[in-house]
Amino acid sequence: MSNGTAARPDLRQSERFLSLYTPPKIDGDFTGKHIISVEQFDRRDLQILFDATASIRKRIRQHDRGLLALTAGRLMATLFYEASTRTDLSFQAAMRHLGGEVVAASNGVQFSSIYKGENLADTVRAVGCYADVIVLRHPEVGSSYEAAYYLDLLRQQVMRQPVVISGGDGVGEHPTQALLDMFTIFDMKGRIDGLDITMVGDLRHGRTVHSLAKLIAIYGAQDTTLNFVAPQELSMPANILSFLEGRGLTVNQTDNLYDVLGHTDVIYWTRVQEERFEDPASYEAIKDRFIMTPPVLAQAKPDAILMHPLPRKHEMGTAADHDALDADPRTVYFRQMENGMLVRMALLAKVLGGLWV
Ligand code: NCD
Repeated sequence: MSNGTAARPDLRQSERFLSLYTPPKIDGDFTGKHIISVEQFDRRDLQILFDATASIRKRIRQHDRGLLALTAGRLMATLFYEASTRTDLSFQAAMRHLGGEVVAASNGVQFSSIYKGENLADTVRAVGCYADVIVLRHPEVGSSYEAAYYLDLLRQQVMRQPVVISGGDGVGEHPTQALLDMFTIFDMKGRIDGLDITMVGDLRHGRTVHSLAKLIAIYGAQDTTLNFVAPQELSMPANILSFLEGRGLTVNQTDNLYDVLGHTDVIYWTRVQEERFEDPASYEAIKDRFIMTPPVLAQAKPDAILMHPLPRKHEMGTAADHDALDADPRTVYFRQMENGMLVRMALLAKVLGGLWV
């Protein structure tokens, strides 16, 4: 099967930018800031963003045409070196719902000059000459840091002051997914404090769980427990665990879902990331370890919620299982998708001008 990756660069090329480039803290002001890590946020920034998101949702419900002024005259470019449905289309929809415009390479990035061997540093600077914001998804850890580094250099030479927003940085982070996930938890449970949150599946390669776990710690959740359920080979990376520990979060690791399912408030299910495995045999050996089906969900609390960043494959059983799960009021992944567009609207409006939303 296709691995969903347009180009296969040396996956360590960008990693050095993790130490070369320090992303700016938001510190209450999003204007002109690259968004590449959840570590840029603090609790107040999250409150500002989520208030703006709730306000946008209210204005959409009121059919407020004023939203179309929020990014009018601004241009967003999408640069996706990996497959995407939700992140790509929700960003595009978000920009257009705010009155902004969107451009992308006519035949996908694989037919841009990347095909001729152009590197990321040059490609992002080309795009930064035309667009105000670039949404980047790339298979390398550190790629969004590299983009931010070169865009800062470019800013000294050109009219536009382009911003990069990460849409997924290899197995590193996926900050906007974590923002929409946290917004959804607030929406459904009204709080983060005191919750028992369980992340299941490929915690090693899953950038969504890396970012969400860190964001929960950054929020400073009180009496919140994070349970990580994964086979040993796919457990949460040590650097994330030490980040959480440093922030005083209670973390439980187990490979037995039933240790924690019965007292979990938020179940966050994930796909085993086939495209990140070097050896197909080790993927095959592990791919069926955790499968969410209606009988499994039956053992969860009546007021639990079931989240998933999607796409889903057989980690949620068959197509019939999907339908049965979707009919359970505890499943919230379609709300996550809608919230993704709303959170990205708020973020684009803030980053592109600090406009009141
Ligand atoms: C995730 C991703 O790309 O990391 N998808 C998404 O953005 N909603 C999760 C995945 O691919 O499994």
